[in-house]
Amino acid sequence: AIDIKTLRSATGLTTIDPGFKNTGSCESAITFLDGEKGILRYRGYSIEELAEKADFLEVAYLLIFGELPNDEQLAKFHSDIKKESHVDEEMKKILDGFPKSAHPMGVLSSLTNALIAFNPSSVNVSSESDMYHAIVRILAKFPVLVAWTLRKKKGLPLDYGDDSLGYVENIHKMMFKRPSEEYKCNKIIIDALDKLLILHADHEQNCSTSTVRIVGSSHAGLFASLSAGISALWGPLHGGANQAVLEMLEAIEADGGDTKKYMAKAKDKNDPFRLMGFGHRVYKNFDPRAKIIKVAADEVLNDLGIDDPILAIAKGLEKEALEDPYFVDRKLYPNVDFYSGIIYRALGIPTEMFTVMFALGRLPGWIAQWREMRLNGEPIGRPRQVYVGENLRPFVEVNKR
Ligand code: ACO
Repeated sequence: AIDIKTLRSATGLTTIDPGFKNTGSCESAITFLDGEKGILRYRGYSIEELAEKADFLEVAYLLIFGELPNDEQLAKFHSDIKKESHVDEEMKKILDGFPKSAHPMGVLSSLTNALIAFNPSSVNVSSESDMYHAIVRILAKFPVLVAWTLRKKKGLPLDYGDDSLGYVENIHKMMFKRPSEEYKCNKIIIDALDKLLILHADHEQNCSTSTVRIVGSSHAGLFASLSAGISALWGPLHGGANQAVLEMLEAIEADGGDTKKYMAKAKDKNDPFRLMGFGHRVYKNFDPRAKIIKVAADEVLNDLGIDDPILAIAKGLEKEALEDPYFVDRKLYPNVDFYSGIIYRALGIPTEMFTVMFALGRLPGWIAQWREMRLNGEPIGRPRQVYVGENLRPFVEVNKR
């Protein structure tokens, strides 16, 4: 629905567009999205083809630099990343200061900002080469922070990665390797992770990406912009939905699996409950990522030999919603995160880490958008408002109020 108000101001015409539903904030050559037709492309390549044929590091390169890398470019990119994988030991003390119960998204956002203190040269990037160094640095160090965040929760030692492994496999090892066990790669798990990360890698000007671009527009630096993006992603209306979906499915299961009861709650305007994982600001027919992920969830559970009753509940809810006029009329379809949590769970990733996995996937997209914004020389983001408060009034002394 278009609900735009306008007002003349000193600088021209100010429009009020709640939630920026109809406002374009920039021109971008990174991600194409057609919400009516359910199309998503990174740099012109369909998400379906990328999820099937590419790996996450190739997609990261594609998003950030605009083209798929050849063997040599990919090898150099990976080797540059590996050279930067050390995280200052002092960062462990910061992590130690957090209570074990701290939400991993809050920890990760704080640690990402704290990295600046140990990598000050990544702030004032005035050339493409400075930018490149800041980019490979964060692509190297962010997975270490993710792994440490999880390992601290599990009481495991804070280790570093293994340079002999692929980018995603190394992340998996850093997260899950136990001190007394030899790490064995499970191809099914690594392939599933690769796919999930690719599907989350960019989604044009969503809430967290717009945050990254707007913070970056003040030249605050890449890491500070990313830290803000992580905070934006945390919310349950955005990336936090994947955790909320799984908690909802578990609650429905614990309550006897009565999906109809929860459908009724979601439709009741006096009940704040929403069917998490349904609806999308832009997709009004279907989310192409949800289609891919639904098939992947089936495959992963099958391959790993897991019979998860939660998958049946999810499929039941989806079927009912697709036949329900409330959901059909409002064009509410499952989004990418309706099924992602089921896969994460099957891969042994704790529920609280789901949104962190989303952040890991979105990292190249945020970087690409930040880089594009800086290379375009975009001005500082500074929206206007329409003031609706009090007119001028005299100050009243405290004893007379
Ligand atoms: N369950 C029940 N009703 C819903 C849902 C839902 N999940 N989503 C939207 N609606 C209803 C709203 O109540 C509203 O109804 P009304 O017209 O009778 O008032 C109508 O559908 C339109 O909803 P809006 O909130 O105006 O749509 P908007 O585009 O602003 O929000 C959003 C999109 C935030 C994704 C919303 O659909 C939602 O809250 N979904 C659940 C959370 C979720 O899954 N978020 C993940 C998004 S995808 C991502 O970030 C990866």
